[in-house]
Amino acid sequence: MRLPYAEPYKIKMVEQLYPSTRTHRETWIREAKYNLFNLKSEQVFIDLLTDSGTGAMSDRQWSAMMLGDESYAGASSYYLLKEKIREILGFDYFLPTHQGRAAENVLFSVLVSEGDLIPGNTHFDTTRGHIEFRKAKAIDCTIDEAFNTSLDHPFKGNVDIRKLEQVFQENSVEKIPFVIITLTCNSSGGQPVSMQNLKEIHRVVKKHGALLFYDAARFAENAYFIKTREKGYRDKTIKEIVREMFSFADGMTMSSKKDAIVNMGGFIGLRDEKIFREATTFNILFEGFITYGGMSGRDMNALAQGLDEGTEFNYLDSRIKQVAYLGERLKEFGIPVQEPFGGHAIFVDVKRFLVNVPLEQFPAQTLAVELYLEAGVRSAEIGILMADRDPITRENRFPEMEFLRLAIPRRVYTRNHMDLVAVAMKNISDRREKLTRGLRIVWEAPILRHFTVELEPVD
Ligand SMILES: Cc1ncc(COP(=O)(O)O)c(C=O)c1O
Repeated sequence: MRLPYAEPYKIKMVEQLYPSTRTHRETWIREAKYNLFNLKSEQVFIDLLTDSGTGAMSDRQWSAMMLGDESYAGASSYYLLKEKIREILGFDYFLPTHQGRAAENVLFSVLVSEGDLIPGNTHFDTTRGHIEFRKAKAIDCTIDEAFNTSLDHPFKGNVDIRKLEQVFQENSVEKIPFVIITLTCNSSGGQPVSMQNLKEIHRVVKKHGALLFYDAARFAENAYFIKTREKGYRDKTIKEIVREMFSFADGMTMSSKKDAIVNMGGFIGLRDEKIFREATTFNILFEGFITYGGMSGRDMNALAQGLDEGTEFNYLDSRIKQVAYLGERLKEFGIPVQEPFGGHAIFVDVKRFLVNVPLEQFPAQTLAVELYLEAGVRSAEIGILMADRDPITRENRFPEMEFLRLAIPRRVYTRNHMDLVAVAMKNISDRREKLTRGLRIVWEAPILRHFTVELEPVD
């Protein structure tokens, strides 16, 4: 009999969780204005809001922290991290930032101007936010297959090369400073981009004289999918695949809170000295001096160690199989999810699940509230709320996909936790026909509204 997968680590320290009653949760979610970001963590039993910064560090990372050098300038921790980034990702220049969106802020301050177009696969919300904040436009060139959740395609994060070509054909390259590829593509369901696609994107981008950047938060999970799904990569190590992936990029922004398994941190990787020098000024202005830029020395040490551990096959194998385990359980219960399963999360296709809640009443957010009430499980809406209003017309944007995301923190939860989530979803599924009313907005911010929006049930 084939042995099942098992985590390649054991638990040394535990953190208490807080079970609650439905009556408690009804009060708490009302007080939270039906926005799960407003809940206190002790009001949540299983927290699948995000996999960002919520992973468990290893004993090796914690011990690396003790050796952190907190010098303002020239800290050994900076040089340790610089060397690790060069070794694993191949970039000679790097700037530390406090998290991924800070890396976007610094890099885009150099490269993005009003009226620019930034093509890519589906942009993450902070990436799009930083583009639109500068009055530029994010253009989604993802393949159409990504928007059909029941269609089996190994690389639903891929860019449609014809769509990308068209953007370059119809606009002057001066308006397209770079193309950004999100690895894996969070917004389309944690879906990977193939090596072949990266090569083709690189070819198009270079033909037109633009730059290619990666939003690399989940680059190691992407490499795992290349190894396990793409012809010719089975016998390569994750680190070899990562080096090849990044060989096509001019630079990257990184939220280290994902695949580098730290609780806070980010960085920019670059090949070009000129861009590095320009970005340095903004980094000093927004983040801090070049050799710490928003991170403490101990955090840089933990990050260097995390980059190594996060690119080990055995770790990635158990991580991605845990996510798939939850996906399989949900499928057994007939719950429609994005397939193949993503790397960091399972995405419930809410348009096929809560069919009686009108889109104007935010069905994915309605389901997130329902799941919280059912079992204290916190999840995230990746749908109309997150899509924000159109910056010009101020009308709601209705994205192709209306998802509920169940993001799995790294090395944190057990199989029993996954089973509980699956059964909670089944219980909701049993009564889903009766769920006909959603939520309405009471207050919203002009941009990135989903973080702070206030809602109430439609009566
Ligand atoms: C693909 C992607 N890019 C960028 C970010 C922003 O990173 P951070 O939350 O560290 O600012 C995230 C965060 O979730 C992400 O998933």
